[in-house]
Amino acid sequence: MRLVLLGPPGAGKGTLAALLKESLNLVHISTGDMLREEMKNGTDIGRQAKGFIDKGELVPDDLVIRLIEQKLIGDKQVRHGYMLDGFPRTRKQAEDLDRILGQIHQPLDYALYMEATLPVIIQRLGGRRVCRGCGAVFHVHNKPSRKKNMCDVCGGELYQRADDNEATIRTRMDVYLKNTRPVIEYYKAQGKLEKLDADKDSEEVQGVLMQTFNEDRKLNKH
Ligand code: AP5
Repeated sequence: MRLVLLGPPGAGKGTLAALLKESLNLVHISTGDMLREEMKNGTDIGRQAKGFIDKGELVPDDLVIRLIEQKLIGDKQVRHGYMLDGFPRTRKQAEDLDRILGQIHQPLDYALYMEATLPVIIQRLGGRRVCRGCGAVFHVHNKPSRKKNMCDVCGGELYQRADDNEATIRTRMDVYLKNTRPVIEYYKAQGKLEKLDADKDSEEVQGVLMQTFNEDRKLNKH
């Protein structure tokens, strides 16, 4: 299965992807994680991306599309299915993704739109903590680690993302409304959009989604 996860910052795209990775055995491809990895390794791409990410703005399309194209065409692991988290974020990215997938005859199955309200988003991003070692995501209230600032999975140190501060969150929301909302319409027109109430608990969101997949399978839709 090939999925796209759409939604505002903090809607829970990464959290849902971690759950679906387990239940559906799909590869999780997050452009945010890929760009942060490039930054950590001090690569050319990382240096170019840093200024945009720190301000909460979008990294230029050509740079992100290049990363995704390499992954989808060059990485054998993705052949059995994947979830794209945080990509596409502009109409140009959506069109280029269709072009790439058309070349390899692997169309998308679903675009999952995780709809969340602003107070929920602010609460989630303000309390998010991420593991430096394995990237596991926690929340100081919603999903606290057993030991303070220590990852339950690998024992690594938990940190707060530099772009999870109030001013940058506001910019990210504005950028999302301006650039990414049109992508939702793009997939709606293709009949691939599946809307999810992401204010709900993540297991509940996953449950609703699995039900949709099962019903569509029975109807031979996918
Ligand atoms: P990216 O890393 O993709 O950030 P984002 O889209 O802002 O999304 P987040 O990772 O903040 O949120 P999420 O929805 O994954 O939430 P999570 O599951 O962690 O991108 C960062 C930057 O990179 C961008 O600003 C841009 O500069 C650049 N970039 C990336 N892709 C790009 C692209 N395609 N084009 C151009 N630039 C690009 O959850 C958040 C918190 O809430 C966690 O603490 C979690 O535990 C908690 N939580 C989650 N779900 C629930 C729930 N259901 N109930 C209770 N708590 C929950």
